[in-house]
Amino acid sequence: MFSRSSVISLVALAISSVAAQDASLGIKAIQAHFTQSHLVPDLLASFNPSALLNLNYPGVGPVTPGQKLTKEQVGPTPAVTITPANSSVTLTGTYTLAMVDADIVGAVLPEGQTRHWLVNGVKVEDGAVTNATAVGITTYAGPWPAPGSGPHRYVVALYEQPSTFTPPDNLSAPNIPVSTFDWPAYVQSTGLGPLVAATYINVEEGTATVSLQPTSAVVTSTLAPSSATSGASTPSNSAGAGGNGSGNAPNPNTGNAFRSMPALAPFTLLVGGLAALLL
Ligand SMILES: *[C@@H]1O[C@H](CO)[C@@H](O)[C@H](O)[C@H]1NC(C)=O
Ligand SMILES: *[C@@H]1O[C@H](CO)[C@@H](O)[C@H](O)[C@H]1NC(C)=O
Ligand SMILES: *[C@@H]1O[C@H](CO)[C@@H](O)[C@H](O)[C@H]1NC(C)=O
Ligand SMILES: *[C@@H]1O[C@H](CO)[C@@H](O)[C@H](O)[C@H]1NC(C)=O
Repeated sequence: MFSRSSVISLVALAISSVAAQDASLGIKAIQAHFTQSHLVPDLLASFNPSALLNLNYPGVGPVTPGQKLTKEQVGPTPAVTITPANSSVTLTGTYTLAMVDADIVGAVLPEGQTRHWLVNGVKVEDGAVTNATAVGITTYAGPWPAPGSGPHRYVVALYEQPSTFTPPDNLSAPNIPVSTFDWPAYVQSTGLGPLVAATYINVEEGTATVSLQPTSAVVTSTLAPSSATSGASTPSNSAGAGGNGSGNAPNPNTGNAFRSMPALAPFTLLVGGLAALLL
């Protein structure tokens, strides 16, 4: 007969391995979304995150990668949570959180990206990004793309901020208004990195009067390991800029680690059953 504590740790282990499997599928999915939406290589030369970044807007809830949102929906500051890819990823450091406007697919941005949010010195506590010790260089300013300028890709990213991090003089004090800057150059010159986690959303105002490049869909069924359950078989079209797919449809296979866990239900039953036996 198992002792109560060994059963409980067995169950905890089972649940964490399920969550870990899901997070690693989520990592593959977010990488596919960044490639499909041309954020790699438009904004990032490469993208190998060690965690998932989840945005939760008041009144909207958790958002999925590439989700289309209105400027009203993204007005309030979102809560940001981080799900490590696996238990060997620890998030005990100091980080920089940013939101930049990578514009539409293929946009040429000679003045760089518009900075909508830049906070140095954030921490990750119980999976949530916290800012008690942070410097809010640019406080959150929700996306407001120009009418007709097409679906802009707003990237929210969390970078390691090493002790050698050195911000430029003109971006080292709090409350600097939104402006354009060269985000990749900022990352490189300040010594930020590696990139821990990132996601993006689409915000469009009015009907596009610019020509848009087509993008292909992310089909998450092609991402799952062959042993994965049916939970990974739902195709998802993230509708990157220029696509006309179901960008609003929440993708059940990415985003929040637990929402997408069909396999969790049997575990919940198992936990309930074991608890009933033990109590
Ligand atoms: C944990 O995740 C990281 C980042 O994705 C990866 O590099 C590493 O190989 C993973 N470790 C294990 C034990 O799966
Ligand atoms: C910290 O977050 C709160 C809530 O979103 C926000 O009001 C505040 O301005 C943030 N502070 C910094 C330094 O970013
Ligand atoms: C900061 O200075 C750099 C280099 O002089 C300039 O390119 C950039 O536009 C400035 N940024 C801000 C926010 O003033
Ligand atoms: C989406 O694309 C299809 C195929 O290109 C096209 O027939 C359809 O009209 C488009 N729908 C919208 C809403 O643009």
